[in-house]
Amino acid sequence: MIIAVSGKGGTGKTLVSSLLIKSLMGKGKDILAIDADPDSNLPEALGIHVDRSVGDVREELKKDTAEGNIPPEANKWDILDYKIMESLLETPEFDLMVMGRPEGSGCYCAVNNILRKIIDRLSANYDIIIIDTEAGLEHLSRRTTQNVDIILMVTDPSKRGILTAKRIEELSKNLDISFKRKYLILNRVKPGKEDELTREVNEIGLEVAGIIHEDEQVENYDRKGKALIELPDDSQAFKSISQIMEVILKKI
Ligand SMILES: Nc1ncnc2c1ncn2[C@@H]1O[C@H](COP(=O)(O)OP(=O)(O)OP(=O)(O)O)[C@@H](O)[C@H]1O
Ligand SMILES: [Mg+2]
Repeated sequence: MIIAVSGKGGTGKTLVSSLLIKSLMGKGKDILAIDADPDSNLPEALGIHVDRSVGDVREELKKDTAEGNIPPEANKWDILDYKIMESLLETPEFDLMVMGRPEGSGCYCAVNNILRKIIDRLSANYDIIIIDTEAGLEHLSRRTTQNVDIILMVTDPSKRGILTAKRIEELSKNLDISFKRKYLILNRVKPGKEDELTREVNEIGLEVAGIIHEDEQVENYDRKGKALIELPDDSQAFKSISQIMEVILKKI
């Protein structure tokens, strides 16, 4: 099962991605986390330091080719594939791959093409892949999320957040990208506003998988630079996201 977490910038994609991974840990599942946001921050949320992204690996290969360090008969895709597998970070609980961004003014498309290949190639090796996507709609037009089973659109209560979620849903239809399921996650909701917000998004045709309230513990962890994956099991945000994972698993 491949799950992509999407939405407007700063709405809680990385929080949701990291706590979805936490909710799956210790259950005997093979989990792959992919940070597909060029402004990468999933590793920090997972408490991991990553030295080398897929973008870096690609730059190295480009440099090696330009400097003539690669024999002309070598298959570059094979070398890239090998190097990418090398940059896959393994932990006892999950594996992590960080896409990163190419240096300089290089086109980001190359990294996206690689991402699509990685998803296709690695999906057989894992029970669940969670992708923290870049903010906005680009991952759809670049088709990096075309083979995803479930898309989770995260929004805060702002109109612009909800509008981005709606646009993600519309664009996926227009581009003929058929997710098995699409859900909205309402984040940073103030107590008392749940029904009103749920009604509002249902009216525009989005199914709500769950609600996460504003969580002071998340804020504290954030301020201290502590990894969100280390939030206690009884934290509000984690309990909500665990329930959301259950909803998703039940309906698939
Ligand atoms: N429910 C919540 N309670 C308190 N703080 C929250 C909550 N959800 C998110 N935040 C905080 O809001 C900020 C943005 O969240 P996060 O980084 O998860 O969003 P994002 O969508 O991944 O952002 P970006 O688009 O920049 O990658 C972070 O500082 C995070 O700790
Ligand atoms: Mg993020």
